[in-house]
Amino acid sequence: MKQLLWFFCFAFLLSCNLKEKQVEKKEKKVYDMYESSEMAILMNQMYAHNLKIKKEIIAGKIPTEFPLDFLKIHTAELSDFKYRNENFQAFSTLFVAAEKDVFNAASNTPIEDRFNNAVGMCISCHQTECTGPIPRIKKLLIK
Ligand code: HEC
Repeated sequence: MKQLLWFFCFAFLLSCNLKEKQVEKKEKKVYDMYESSEMAILMNQMYAHNLKIKKEIIAGKIPTEFPLDFLKIHTAELSDFKYRNENFQAFSTLFVAAEKDVFNAASNTPIEDRFNNAVGMCISCHQTECTGPIPRIKKLLIK
């Protein structure tokens, strides 16, 4: 009899733990979904690409090819709690223009300045839209 009681106790504890794990899993999934909105993926790609460009510039290379993927900023879907307002459209256009100028071989402005200008546009938009990643974006600036 005593043994049976222990068994139930144990089974109860086990199922409790299982439930907890399931809840944890669910929460993680929601988080992941947020993380991977089309726009968030694009942003992370733009971050990685600009980091690569920064390294090239520091190494004395002149980047020549505007990454066409950056134009997706005009169409990529945002996390569902955010929407595209006029502000966002205006900043996207300014950002794309500044980023294109990085690859403008005819420009007289030093490449470092043009690159920092483009990163400055990332930061300007983030100041109005989502301030969280700003410290990370600032690391892209060439000092
Ligand atoms: C026109 C406005 C705008 C511009 C320009 C912009 N961002 Fe963003 N960024 C956003 C918004 C809005 C989000 C949130 C996206 C979402 O949650 O769907 C975001 C998200 C991010 C994130 C977080 C992504 C994640 O995993 O959640 C990073 C990192 C980021 N941006 C870096 C950059 C970099 C680097 C640039 C410039 C190369 C840049 N952003 C240019 C508006 C902008």
